[in-house]
Amino acid sequence: MKHIYDAAIIGGGVIGCSIAYHLAKKNKKVILLEKERIACGASGAAAGMLGAQMEFTADHSLYPLAIKSRDMFQMLAQELYNESQIDIELIEEGIYELAFHEEEVTSLQKRENEEDAFWLNKHELLKKEPALSDRVRGALFFQRDSQVSPQKLTEAFMMSAQNRGAEIREQTKVVSFIKNQSEVTGVVTESETIHAHNTIIAGGVWSGELDPDLEMIPMKGECLSFTTEKPLLKGTVNYRNCYLVPKKDNRLIIGATTIPHSFQQNVSYNGIFQLMKVAKTIVPSLIDAEFERAWSGIRPQTKRGEPFIGNHEEYERLFVAVGHYRNGILLSPLTGMMMTEQIIAKERQAYVSEASN
Ligand code: FAD
Ligand code: GLY
Repeated sequence: MKHIYDAAIIGGGVIGCSIAYHLAKKNKKVILLEKERIACGASGAAAGMLGAQMEFTADHSLYPLAIKSRDMFQMLAQELYNESQIDIELIEEGIYELAFHEEEVTSLQKRENEEDAFWLNKHELLKKEPALSDRVRGALFFQRDSQVSPQKLTEAFMMSAQNRGAEIREQTKVVSFIKNQSEVTGVVTESETIHAHNTIIAGGVWSGELDPDLEMIPMKGECLSFTTEKPLLKGTVNYRNCYLVPKKDNRLIIGATTIPHSFQQNVSYNGIFQLMKVAKTIVPSLIDAEFERAWSGIRPQTKRGEPFIGNHEEYERLFVAVGHYRNGILLSPLTGMMMTEQIIAKERQAYVSEASN
């Protein structure tokens, strides 16, 4: 008799792994298929900021979702540790949006009425973060924005799913779907056919290879990291297109460039040079830091500029969770939860309509 999974998930990034965990928690029999390694895509390249307020103003349509997802992390960190013994390295020291010019002060002060956002003048800011340049004028402090290790988060979702019975297969590329009229009933990999009641596309920017209608846009980003003898910053700081994210063990990530329409995973001289130049104006003592490494990743953007999380437009039992662009780490818990709720709701609907026939 052929084996049928409740769900086949395509992609072992933070989104696929979160969905796998949330479905496994609901006792679903899950298989996750990753063409290379877990977290080898954008999820392994991210800086890990949970910048709900740094990335979105209160009038943005994604703001409520971003806040909700960010606020899930405190409990999630403990839950994932209990499930997997992996510490996702949640650091709750806020994010500072810096101002170096008068017009930046004026524009940031307008956001001071948002919840949990405080304007700090130069004196107050330098007291909290003394390594910042003396030229800084102040900062809007998002006290509830935080950060994690994106690699550890992805691994923790994966391991927690596995501990609850999910099958995780790396080096397994999905090449097409099993289609039965308007329904998808599983996937075809390079070597086998896998049957599933529900199939979820979570292949990041490469999801477009499986379904060109998703119209994925690659947005390459480059980062680099340094180590220092003593920690330079407690909180994360952001200025224009440059952020500095202090990690465990005196590591500091500096990011990131944004290069549209590029699938190339190289690191450019110009990208790194520009980031280092801005970073040094923000924290001058970085000049003494030791270079660790540089890397790049491809952010998955959609044409409409927002993630797509839901039923595929054409096929029944095919679901899509793609296009998290700059915020897949931040939005991962909520996406896993939303996708699981939708799948369970669909199952219930199918059951009810079958029972009434
Ligand atoms: P991915 O992580 O790319 O995972 C997709 C996976 O699917 C890949 O592992 C791929 O190999 C696999 N796959 C694809 N096709 C197939 C197939 N046919 N068969 C099997 N497997 C397949 N977000 C934040 O929230 N905070 C940040 O601070 C942050 N910083 C970032 C910094 C940089 C430099 C970059 C590049 C991104 C950053 N992001 C950040 C964005 C975040 O990384 C992404 O939004 C998120 O990782 C997307 O996750 P994903 O699972 O959709 O995609
Ligand atoms: N969210 C930060 C980045 O995508 O670079």
